[in-house]
Amino acid sequence: MKVLGIESSCDETGVALIDSEKGLLSDAVHTQIDMHRAYGGVVPELASRDHIRRALVLIDDVLSRAGVKKEEIDAVAVTEGPGLAGALLVGSSVAHAIGYALGIPVVGVHHLEGHLLSACLADPAPKFPFIALLVSGGHTQFMRVNAFGSYELLGETLDDAAGEAFDKTAQLLGEGYPGGPAVSRLAETGTPGAIELPRPMLHSTSLDMSFSGLKTAVLTAVNDAKDPTDPQFRSDLALAFTEAVAEVLTTKAVKAIKTTGIKQLVVAGGVSANKTLRASLIDACRKRGARVFFPPQRLCTDNGAMIAVAGMMRLQRMTEEELQNARKRWSFSAKPRWTLSQAANPDAVNPRQRFRNH
Ligand code: KG4
Ligand code: ZN
Repeated sequence: MKVLGIESSCDETGVALIDSEKGLLSDAVHTQIDMHRAYGGVVPELASRDHIRRALVLIDDVLSRAGVKKEEIDAVAVTEGPGLAGALLVGSSVAHAIGYALGIPVVGVHHLEGHLLSACLADPAPKFPFIALLVSGGHTQFMRVNAFGSYELLGETLDDAAGEAFDKTAQLLGEGYPGGPAVSRLAETGTPGAIELPRPMLHSTSLDMSFSGLKTAVLTAVNDAKDPTDPQFRSDLALAFTEAVAEVLTTKAVKAIKTTGIKQLVVAGGVSANKTLRASLIDACRKRGARVFFPPQRLCTDNGAMIAVAGMMRLQRMTEEELQNARKRWSFSAKPRWTLSQAANPDAVNPRQRFRNH
């Protein structure tokens, strides 16, 4: 089965083609970072317009690099939510137009489910059940992934997401959007221990986290600095911040492994590209006989491959009747606010899941 995956929930247009036998055949991402940089963040209307410009070009590119004709695609998977409404609508419109033209099923995928399952594209891939740490610009959550479609929230940030804290720290250090890569770069020349920052909720018994106090501590450090533009100060602060985030996430990850007894940890979402965090998690897990899985580096941030793999898993579990319905699903929706538990089990209500923008 060949599945075309389309992601357009925020500021990346991602397209990929996956084959159930051969794995990922080809993928392409266009990032809008340069376009939004001038505004210090994502401008939704510009994002939608750019997705329109890129989607068909990327699809042609992915198909031609895979040597696959449009008629050979068996199904389309598209991000249905959460995300920016207009941006989601572009991906959904394109996906359903292709589905209609080719008479093939179209499945809507939850963006976070895509991130969760992106490690299935790693070699070796994790086996169910596993613990997943989702760290992106909008989410910081520990999930217990029992099987495809069975996700249990173990703990999450009570305020800012880790990626958001990276972005705000970058702003305070005079760096542009997105902040994660900039802070990581600065941290490389920082002096360990030069600046001390708090580790919020490090010793709390739950797997919940908080990053807003850390952000305030960064602000205070910048305000108190003799010269906040001094390159060494900026590097020292970037390192102190990165280490604080890495320590909190690592301590909680170890706690998740201990309390569940599950010895596989999958780390996904944009912040999982951070080298300090990766090293810290690998080291801590190795000491406890657990194993860490990361998606391939280029698939850590938003991409079409994670949507294609999640869509393929869903399609493989669908009955013939469900597939027929998916072939005739001409009306479609974009779900800007949509929790993972709603997506996995539309009838269940998980009181811990809060509505939150992507
Ligand atoms: O998963 P993602 O691409 O989009 C969302 O779903 O939010 O994550 C984007 C977030 C941004 O906050 C960005 O600053 C952060 O991931 N990020 C990083 C790194 N690369 C991206 N944070 C820390 N270190 C990095 N190397
Ligand atoms: Zn994402």
